[in-house]
Amino acid sequence: MATYIVLLGPPGVGKGTQARILSETKKLAHISSGDLFRENLKNQTELGKLAKSFMDKGELVPDDVTIAMIKDRLSRPDCEAGAILDGFPRTPAQADALEAMLKNFSGSVDAVPYITAAESILIERASGRWTCRAQGHIYHEKFNPPQKDGVCDIDGSEVYQREDDKVETVTKRIRVYLEQTMPLVEYYRKAGKLIEVDGTRQVEQVTKTLFDALKE
Ligand code: AP5
Ligand code: MG
Repeated sequence: MATYIVLLGPPGVGKGTQARILSETKKLAHISSGDLFRENLKNQTELGKLAKSFMDKGELVPDDVTIAMIKDRLSRPDCEAGAILDGFPRTPAQADALEAMLKNFSGSVDAVPYITAAESILIERASGRWTCRAQGHIYHEKFNPPQKDGVCDIDGSEVYQREDDKVETVTKRIRVYLEQTMPLVEYYRKAGKLIEVDGTRQVEQVTKTLFDALKE
């Protein structure tokens, strides 16, 4: 049976960083809703233009288009063994839609690591983040800088600062997270799937906590 892991947590906590490591180790596809929107933006699709109008304000893209995008992504062949979902679901309606679509792939959400850190840490991480233009590889000017300034170590493309990583937009995203996504913590706790992970420490330590918790 396919394995589906949902990474839950506030903006900038390290979901993308940990999802990449998990996906490589567990040989599961990494699906980041934010990356999919940014890819659409880069390719100037209609979906990309629509998403941009919400992302730039730090608001959530409407559920219907987000759900349709993820459904399409999950039906691709590289998701046959399952996936690490990063940034989806983000509302109770998205969580319900996910359960319904996973039934079609004869699966369900297996575990929900919930990564947390204080707001000051989230802002420091997001505002120092550099993202690779080609494939979204993640760096931080202080905590994880690329070897060569401005260039991705992995694919050599330019690294850039996300438009929505300005302090005021990050603050707004955190507020939106508290209002719209926090209910999912109880949703998955009740389902017995929530695994709390302290995201304050260094990347390697967070990874270790995450892997140990998933083993249990
Ligand atoms: P999205 O791209 O998903 O952003 P987010 O959830 O706000 O999360 P981030 O990507 O900002 O942070 P992250 O937790 O992945 O942290 P990262 O690993 O990069 O969404 C963007 C927008 O798209 C949304 O605002 C919304 O508009 C739209 N959207 C997306 N999904 C949606 C959905 N389902 N429904 C509706 N709308 C949706 O790490 C951050 C930084 O910290 C990096 O620099 C990294 O190097 C560093 N770092 C990571 N871990 C550590 C550590 N342990 N110690 C020190 N530094 C660390
Ligand atoms: Mg991310």
